Amino acid sequence: MKVTWILPDGARVSAEVAAGLSLMEAAVAHNVPGVVGECGGNLSCATCHVQVAEDWAARVGGPGEFEDAMLDTVEAARGANSRLSCQIRARDDLDGLVLIVPAV
Ligand code: FES
Repeated sequence: MKVTWILPDGARVSAEVAAGLSLMEAAVAHNVPGVVGECGGNLSCATCHVQVAEDWAARVGGPGEFEDAMLDTVEAARGANSRLSCQIRARDDLDGLVLIVPAV
């Protein structure tokens, strides 16, 4: 599936991501600035914060309970479509997904 990250300066990074990979892992593998993934996807750092583009928010779905609590600790402002990208797995029906990397 193809994923595009929109950076705070408007630049875009696009990549093909294998199904099953988390979108934090994909961002780190493609050097997307601003997505760090410090805890390795263990839901304890919130450095993988992204906002899901409005058109995709319903399909991606909202955060789980613990992720929701973690999102309250993010450095950048939390938005309505904020997610921790280590908790989103690439899957075929998300082909074309757009994620916004928030400015800190
Ligand atoms: S990588 Fe640490 S919470 Fe997602």
